[in-house]
Amino acid sequence: TISPVLMCGGAGTRLWPLSRKSYPKQFVPLVGEESLFQAAARRLSGPGFSAPVVVTGSDFRFIVTEQLAALDIRPGAILIEPEARNTAPAVLAAALHLAATDPEALMLIAPADHVITDPAGFRAAVEAGADAARAGQIVTFGIRPTRAETGYGWLELAAQPGGGTDPVALIRFVEKPQAARAAEMLAAGNFLWNAGIFLFSAKTMIAAFEAHAPAILGPVRAAVEGAQSDLDFLRLDPGPWAEAEEISVDFAIMERASNLTAVPYGGGWSDLGDWAAVRDEMGPDAAGNAAAGPVTAIDCQGSLLRSEAEGLELVGIGLRDVVAVATPDAVLIADKSRAQDVKQAVAALKAKS
Ligand code: GDD
Ligand code: MG
Repeated sequence: TISPVLMCGGAGTRLWPLSRKSYPKQFVPLVGEESLFQAAARRLSGPGFSAPVVVTGSDFRFIVTEQLAALDIRPGAILIEPEARNTAPAVLAAALHLAATDPEALMLIAPADHVITDPAGFRAAVEAGADAARAGQIVTFGIRPTRAETGYGWLELAAQPGGGTDPVALIRFVEKPQAARAAEMLAAGNFLWNAGIFLFSAKTMIAAFEAHAPAILGPVRAAVEGAQSDLDFLRLDPGPWAEAEEISVDFAIMERASNLTAVPYGGGWSDLGDWAAVRDEMGPDAAGNAAAGPVTAIDCQGSLLRSEAEGLELVGIGLRDVVAVATPDAVLIADKSRAQDVKQAVAALKAKS
């Protein structure tokens, strides 16, 4: 079986004001009834999967237990990071934790900020990558690119991807390229976007850190070995953890490793990175509007209107490509093309407080 590793320690600032420091986007029902974290946990439960390992921050631990309990999913472990150090230390901690009982254990790194609209097709892609992962490969899942996106990783394939889920060797992994490079890769055709989902054995990942990021290994190993049990949680030792370099697994390992294999996944996938992406996934109407809560849209186009406060009426008139999100204590009104800049607004608010 495969152990899902649910990564849910991110901040999600671009989805303010719904995503908050104490309650970030992965725990919010952004599309549909479930949170993205719950959808990820559900997608990776059932036959073929072990109980999930969750890696998160202390502030979110009870949100995690509550949201899993609501789905009747019992976690295998909940690792608590004393502070967020980005994904490389988090992935390594999960690998070391699993390797203590089974170094061959296959683990599936699953970010909790994605929408995957074809769970069965996604599980088939995961199965298609299992043999390569058992054989020592780091398997990534690739999405056919539709724009020169600079916020994603790109996978350079040894061959043009076919239609199915046949694994393809990777020549190179390029994390978050410059715009010009992204445009070249889009034009070249033998590139896929990195979905941010990885499959490998625990020992393969530990060996990859030994080879490519050895300085992280010592502190993270000490943090795992010194972890304290507390209720349902395993608190990593804060002293050594603070020594681990703050870096993503994409930069620390994927860009440097040569044992990489890609499995194309052709179903729907979206990183709900900003409000424009959320509008797309909510299923806009014929005029391109998406709405949630008590809202009224009159002669609006391409806009998102969400009222997340009980009984707070939100009315839009004559809006074009606007994002309007109201919560009990904050309202965001932005041009949709500036959705990425919400991050800056959060930084400005922080500086003010
Ligand atoms: N536990 C934990 N601790 N989780 C974290 C931390 C951390 O310090 N930092 C981020 N995460 C979680 C986030 O909550 C998210 O679910 C996942 O790890 C990925 O982190 P992001 O910060 O969202 O990464 P990204 O979107 O910039 O880039 C990654 O995903 C892209 C696709 O969505 C990369 O893998 C790209 O290559 C990829 O294209
Ligand atoms: Mg992301």
